[in-house]
Amino acid sequence: MNRSTFTIDYTITDKDHLDPADALLMDKALKAAGNAYAPYSGFSVGAAVRLENGEILTGNNQENASFPAGICAERSVIFYAHANFPQSRILSIAITASPCGICRQVLLESEKRAGIPIRVLLANGNEIRIFSSVKDLLPFGFDSF
Ligand code: THU
Repeated sequence: MNRSTFTIDYTITDKDHLDPADALLMDKALKAAGNAYAPYSGFSVGAAVRLENGEILTGNNQENASFPAGICAERSVIFYAHANFPQSRILSIAITASPCGICRQVLLESEKRAGIPIRVLLANGNEIRIFSSVKDLLPFGFDSF
């Protein structure tokens, strides 16, 4: 039997110290949160992805009276990206919250498809956390052993 530890290396910064490309991406995510449809939870989330072709796409959570039918901001934009730009890999994603487990698993698969790490920027008010790979957000995710 062996013991092991897992360390996650990430950056903590704030909106005013992001590089211009990251600041723009987070700004788009924040704006997208404004278009969320969240009458049941009252919790609006926005997400923005930067694709390899330079395109920036945004999404937000869309709820429904049939609760499980709703979708998170991250999945709405990730699936839109793959549906409309299947050849263009996702380089980074900015999210105005910390992603749920399902969205982490979806992001992990996008990263696997891309074959390159996806940078993840998470905002909590003015504080920003930057992870260099989805694997740091979902260690030992399904299929990642
Ligand atoms: N939500 C997201 O959009 N992303 C997440 O990663 C977690 C939760 C949404 C779903 C629901 O509309 C609301 O936030 C409250 O859970």
